[in-house]
Amino acid sequence: MTHASRVTRQEPKDEPIVCRCEEVTLPEVVQAIREGYDTVEELKRHLRVGMGPCQGRTCLPLLARVLARETGRSLAEVMEEISTRPPLIPIPFEVWRGK
Ligand code: FES
Repeated sequence: MTHASRVTRQEPKDEPIVCRCEEVTLPEVVQAIREGYDTVEELKRHLRVGMGPCQGRTCLPLLARVLARETGRSLAEVMEEISTRPPLIPIPFEVWRGK
């Protein structure tokens, strides 16, 4: 008798992954850019890249490189579009106030 796993897993994708958290591949990013989503914010909203649990710490630099390459803009210009978020975990005010 075999026991079926309750966990369903998707087949691994063959394409390079840009965003591990949201499983967004490089071809998906390139296609979206070619469809006109040519800013970091538009790509985040369209593909959810950078909106996973790590909040883009891993994928936003990769996304910026792909976006710069595909649009012919400089990496510095694209990086300026990336906004940082406050910490995901609340931190007591005492940390900043000092004691
Ligand atoms: S790798 Fe993209 S949000 Fe975590």
